[in-house]
Amino acid sequence: MDIRRLNAALREGAPLPKRALAELARGLADGSVSDAQAGAFAMAACLRGLGEAGRVALTQAMRDSGTVLRWDLPGPVLDKHSTGGLGDAVSLILAPALAACGAYVPMIAGRGLGHTGGTIDKLESIPGLRTDFGAEALQDLVRAQGAAIVAASAEIAPADRRLYAIRDVSGTVESIDLITASILSKKLAAGISALVMDVKCGTGAFMATPSDARQLAHALVDTARGAGCPTVALITDMNQPLAPAAGNALEVAVAMQTLARPSSHPALVALTEALGGEVLALAGLARRPGDGAAMILQAMESGRATERFAAMINAQGGPRDFAENWRTHLPAAPVIRPLPCPQAGVLAAVDGRALGHAVIGLGGGRRVESDHINPAVGLSEIARIGARLEPGEPLCLIHAADEAAAMAAQAALAGAFTLADAALPPLLVQERIA
Ligand code: URA
Repeated sequence: MDIRRLNAALREGAPLPKRALAELARGLADGSVSDAQAGAFAMAACLRGLGEAGRVALTQAMRDSGTVLRWDLPGPVLDKHSTGGLGDAVSLILAPALAACGAYVPMIAGRGLGHTGGTIDKLESIPGLRTDFGAEALQDLVRAQGAAIVAASAEIAPADRRLYAIRDVSGTVESIDLITASILSKKLAAGISALVMDVKCGTGAFMATPSDARQLAHALVDTARGAGCPTVALITDMNQPLAPAAGNALEVAVAMQTLARPSSHPALVALTEALGGEVLALAGLARRPGDGAAMILQAMESGRATERFAAMINAQGGPRDFAENWRTHLPAAPVIRPLPCPQAGVLAAVDGRALGHAVIGLGGGRRVESDHINPAVGLSEIARIGARLEPGEPLCLIHAADEAAAMAAQAALAGAFTLADAALPPLLVQERIA
């Protein structure tokens, strides 16, 4: 198949033959499709859309462009994926909690993207911990510990790796079809039997409006199902960080506090329960999502999730005593400064993008791919919407590498918090798409 014919069909809105999309994915993986051809495909897909059948076919073709894991285990192989937000440490808690409930979790996670944090960057703030495992090593880890969280290796969906890089530099990231195929090709290549998607919506999310979030959630659920993987999506609030911290080691600390005492971060725990409950029910390990949520909470409260977490961290090269002594192992920033509240009032809104960019400005995220991350920096004790604040009380704590960086973050955050006379906390789980 000549890629020019595929691109012409897409340009004209004609049906896209499955075979042509399979050849595109193969050509992306082996280099026989050029950057120009792939860029033209991506732009045409952005402008015309692939249609549901085209989106499913592209997802399957990209999944099959590399290794697809096959499992023979005594429990279901499950996963969760989030479309990206702030203070979202759910994966760190949910992967071991699901393992403690009898599931197996080969979580292929991402790095920070745009203003949002990434699970791989968070995990790598743990000294010695590795995330660069190939497919076979990932299978060994999951068989032994029940869960592993790793970066996508070159073997997994190589067509996506190439197309993603081309989209990133050609202004073609923002296509629901391409985002869906990109996320799901990697997830489905892990050979999972059910998936729950957390589609974030709000000022700190890529999808700022409910209608955009709904469209993406439907695309993800329909495409995953079309490719044979039962999937539910929850549309969840990202108008403020999920947990009151944004930054890599700071979010690992939040996950450790939560595993030790689930009541310490209620929103983070509520969402972990809700997402875990959905995927346990999809897999038949729970009768209903509510029963599954109770299983997740029980795994946390009993300490079984922490045991799994400790085993997972140790197997991936982290310290043996991390679960007990995480405070001594995690890097800490030398400068911690409050961001004082300028006036009395109730916190009514948080500009999530501004918070995410402030973390990047502190060195906690990347501006370009080659940037090195400082895992210690970021924001903690971020005030929650609905909180009543007095003048001078901290809106958050800034963790910085030096005084100049702390002052720059203070300036960057000046307009990020809106105060009013009254405010209602946002609803955490806004919609369920099944
Ligand atoms: N995450 C991905 O893996 N791919 C996208 O296109 C967007 C988010």
